[in-house]
Amino acid sequence: MLLVTGGAGFIGSNFVLGQAERGIVNLDALTYAGNPTNLETLKNQSLHHFVHGSINDESLVNQLFEQHKPSAIVHFAAESHVDRSIKTPRDFMETNVLGTFTLLEAARHYWGKLEGAEKQNFRFLHVSTDEVYGSLSPSDPAFRETTPYAPNSPYSASKAASDHLVRAYFHTYGLPVLTTNCSNNYGPYQFPEKLIPLILHNALNDKPLPIYGDGQQVRDWLYVTDHCDAIATVLEKGELGEVYNIGGNNELANIDVVHHICALLDELRPRATGNYADLITYVTDRPGHDRRYAIDASKMKNQLGWSPRETFETGMRKTVEWYLNNSAWVEGVTSGTYREWIEGQYD
Ligand code: NAD
Ligand code: TYD
Repeated sequence: MLLVTGGAGFIGSNFVLGQAERGIVNLDALTYAGNPTNLETLKNQSLHHFVHGSINDESLVNQLFEQHKPSAIVHFAAESHVDRSIKTPRDFMETNVLGTFTLLEAARHYWGKLEGAEKQNFRFLHVSTDEVYGSLSPSDPAFRETTPYAPNSPYSASKAASDHLVRAYFHTYGLPVLTTNCSNNYGPYQFPEKLIPLILHNALNDKPLPIYGDGQQVRDWLYVTDHCDAIATVLEKGELGEVYNIGGNNELANIDVVHHICALLDELRPRATGNYADLITYVTDRPGHDRRYAIDASKMKNQLGWSPRETFETGMRKTVEWYLNNSAWVEGVTSGTYREWIEGQYD
């Protein structure tokens, strides 16, 4: 039995769908980013227990530990969008920092009472981001697990704080923790506030494709199910207290990512007139915009035998096809509150 937090979000729901043969208690507050329809195929699956609630609700979290006696917790729940963290940072401190603290406390009390193999096998896996390491210049080596933390946005600062808490619970209490720091994910069920689904959504609605600043910021991109496989691998084989960097070996400038999407759409769903790239529009840059992220995932490969299966080309083709075939899902999530966010952010 796994306790998964944030399992109705983008990565969490991909993880839960991929682990459907396991017993899962899925705790999710269903914020704007959480979507129960992602889990529609598990509706009649007795192994999946969905609980609508917050990781900040101490008594609920304690109760879930006592009731379901999970062998591990996989912690995805977070506020995850950098632009929102610039506008409403408090939400990020509450969920990412205090929520993680609440989970750690509950796990510590629960684990403290376990005995024998149950105690030995328990794991707290904390899902984090490469953004905690800050920004690289073009010639810097990629982030390693030993790279000093230098978060630059309220989002990355809150994730960095949560990583530090997880580390402290290992060193102080011996809680059996694992931390993963992953690069930018893309794939099915990603909310269209993030670059790739936003560009797809705008392109298909003949709207401008907004590029922040000069579009030369570099991210490493990983197809979401590769991230989920990496998490399952760390859960199974990771060494207690260790940190694992996860990445796709796909460093690309934003403008190149957008051109790649446009070319795929030109092939799969041509516009009536012109190419999708005609919609590209440069807009005001994000404040404090990190220039480059890059991940050295050699520890995952050498110690745990994990490497990504998808290249950027294969993963992007699957992603574009998924969005083209799931327009009802996209319509469902681009409701009133979505439109308010887009108007506030881009107008
Ligand atoms: P997401 O925003 O799509 O989903 C977050 C989920 O958490 C939603 O279902 C939301 O309802 C839930 N949630 C938010 N606050 C909650 C609370 N207080 N209690 C319970 N549930 C709550 O995020 P994502 O992109 O799937 O990211 C998942 C995790 O992976 C995050 O911790 C994020 O920092 C990390 N991560 C994301 C990426 C990426 O590219 N998306 C990359 C590396 C790491
Ligand atoms: P995003 O998907 O928000 O992920 P993150 O900020 O966590 O890396 O953004 C990815 C990159 O794309 C980032 O450099 C910001 C840029 N970007 C744009 O240029 N335009 C947009 O409309 C968005 C949402 C992002």
